Amino acid sequence: IREAAVDLPLKGKSVLVTAGGTKERIDPVRFISNDSSGKMGHAVAEAAWESGAKVTLITASSLDVSENITVARVESAEEMYDAVSSRFDSSDALVMAAAVSDYSPETASPHKMKKQDQLTITFKKNPDILKEMGNRKHSSQCLVGFAAETDNIEVYANKKLKEKKADLIVANDVGKKDRGFNVDKNEVIFFSQAREPQIIQLKEKTEIAKDIIDWISEFLN
Ligand code: CTP
Ligand code: CA
Repeated sequence: IREAAVDLPLKGKSVLVTAGGTKERIDPVRFISNDSSGKMGHAVAEAAWESGAKVTLITASSLDVSENITVARVESAEEMYDAVSSRFDSSDALVMAAAVSDYSPETASPHKMKKQDQLTITFKKNPDILKEMGNRKHSSQCLVGFAAETDNIEVYANKKLKEKKADLIVANDVGKKDRGFNVDKNEVIFFSQAREPQIIQLKEKTEIAKDIIDWISEFLN
């Protein structure tokens, strides 16, 4: 239960969170996706609510969501883009925890495809939701992205921070089995413009979510 205290740090703020791995349809029974479970994004949404925010979660995951949170369930990157875009201007913070597919099949077959000797699928690039919102945001909005890397974390995370005009990039090493995708724990590094990188040691995603929300609260207040 959210405390009735008046001094909750995100009281009066609207927070938009995305979660899960998007699914890009090939045909009515097949899709391309990734290993994201949605746990991190769902934990961020709950933590934002506990800090007093009004929270909307746009999720491609089938995980449950508490009734305190407004949920929009989406499947593809395109649907997620529309859902974020229509709500972004009235939000104080956007946390893009979703693993958005970078590509989708150029055309989805309306019928179940029949087996053939060889199959070639042509992909088209999806919109970069974080980057587009970065270009649109005003200075009082807080934009948080994630960076899933298997190598050169610092270089890639700083590049994403700059190119997407994010205020915070939460970087994680997805090459290790005990953290990141599909498990309850994670170890991340916070990259921001103003501060030195901050290592958040291996712990429950629910705890990391609180650290992210604390960072946002400080930014907004
Ligand atoms: N992201 C997004 N829209 C996309 C792809 C990514 O909004 N089409 C967001 C993710 O939600 C994440 C951040 O951008 O917050 C970084 O995602 P990531 O996959 O690590 O980086 P990319 O920019 O897609 O670059 P690459 O996959 O080549 O590393
Ligand atoms: Ca990507």
